Amino acid sequence: MPINEGSSKIPVHIGIIMDGNRRWAKKKGLPAIAGHSAGMTALENVIDSANDFGVKYLSLYAFSTENWKRTPLEVEGLMGLFRLYLKDKVERLHARGARIRFVGKMDAFGRDIREGVRAAEEKTRGNGAINVIVCVNYGGRQEIVDAVNRLLAEGEEPPLTEDAVRSKLYAPDIPDPDLIIRTGGEFRTSNFWLWEGAYSEYYFTDAYWPEFGGKELELAISSFSERERRYGAS
Ligand code: FPP
Repeated sequence: MPINEGSSKIPVHIGIIMDGNRRWAKKKGLPAIAGHSAGMTALENVIDSANDFGVKYLSLYAFSTENWKRTPLEVEGLMGLFRLYLKDKVERLHARGARIRFVGKMDAFGRDIREGVRAAEEKTRGNGAINVIVCVNYGGRQEIVDAVNRLLAEGEEPPLTEDAVRSKLYAPDIPDPDLIIRTGGEFRTSNFWLWEGAYSEYYFTDAYWPEFGGKELELAISSFSERERRYGAS
């Protein structure tokens, strides 16, 4: 039975750690950036599929705080793709009624990128289809440290509460991810949604990110729909 018929357990929020771009490229004898470029194409298809399945929030780990340690050539290539995304892909998302947001420390990016981010968020703000959250220069530990520092700067007295910290995360209005998918065959969180993912279900696949599509997304949602979530209770 297709998952969107009869099963109501569609995750509200799916997060994806898009891993394996470079290994995919290497397998094909291509440079790393060709893998990231293919990853960007995969991203478009997966957003469409998630929207069709009725997923309300899709968050994507596109660039971590640690990714600056890659070679200057690769970092520059990724920045080029980011610019291309803002220039060419946002319009397509807008036409589909998607709302796009960027989460992470934007001050590390050049002015053109920051301006493109602001324009994309502004343009799609009123859209009611899927919410696409692109995490760039994002790190879960940094997010928590930033939240605590904001509370301290505002004169909050200890003991700080969970609710107080949560209220200062980068996007406190977005529901916690129900399901986090990691492609590329590794079994780790890599600093993605550390706070928000406390009770997320995980799904791991060997598929490299450029190979991941609607069929794989359906398998991940199917696996999720069979799980019983207890949030620490009996
Ligand atoms: C991880 O694969 C992927 C990344 C670090 C970049 C992800 C970027 C995209 C999917 C496209 C860019 C999109 C935007 C919006 C900027 P990896 O390079 O770690 O692959 P590996 O594990 O095979 O080395």
